[in-house]
Amino acid sequence: MELPLKFAWASLVYLVIGSTLGIIMILDSTLFRPSHVHILLIGFVGMMIFGVGYHLLPVFAGTDLYSLRLAELHFWMQNIGLLGLAFTMPYRQTSDTAHTGSVVFGLISLAAIYLFAFNVARSIIIPREDK
Ligand code: HEM
Ligand code: HEM
Repeated sequence: MELPLKFAWASLVYLVIGSTLGIIMILDSTLFRPSHVHILLIGFVGMMIFGVGYHLLPVFAGTDLYSLRLAELHFWMQNIGLLGLAFTMPYRQTSDTAHTGSVVFGLISLAAIYLFAFNVARSIIIPREDK
């Protein structure tokens, strides 16, 4: 499957999961609030923007994507980081393991975001040879 579509599918799955969590949170909003927020903002909003961004931003700039392999790596790191965060964040104040998990998955998520920023910036700053 094309990479932008992988991001789009992930985004739709996170929209369904995050919104379902939102309904459950109407009963008690505190515990899962950080999971809800990050599943929807990194998962739904972010993944859609990453996918569309990888496809469109180089087109707008008249360039090619700098590295498809880095973008693939970004996809996996962002998903692993987000799922890890979503499962550990609710318990991070009551369990040392969950706290360490949040830090580790948070760093993976952050590194993934840096990869996206680097890859897109590198793609749109450096013009194609034939331009
Ligand atoms: C069926 C859809 C949704 C339901 C039922 C729902 C429900 C909730 C609930 C109950 C809370 C906790 C509010 C509180 O603490 O009093 C919340 C917080 C939040 N939701 Fe949703 N939500 C939904 C969709 C979304 C979507 C689509 C997004 C973003 C794309 C979103 C972003 C947020 C954010 C950022 C917060 C935290 C707000 C804050 O910090 O005050 N939610 N949501
Ligand atoms: C890079 C990885 C990220 C990490 C490790 C992270 C971590 C955190 C932490 C620890 C909190 C406090 C949660 C709490 O009060 O229990 C938080 C809150 C929040 N984060 Fe993130 N965050 C990340 C990325 C993002 C991104 C990309 C967005 C938006 C696009 C975002 C939106 C928010 C919002 C709206 C809140 C407030 C939630 C609330 O009201 O409960 N975060 N984040």
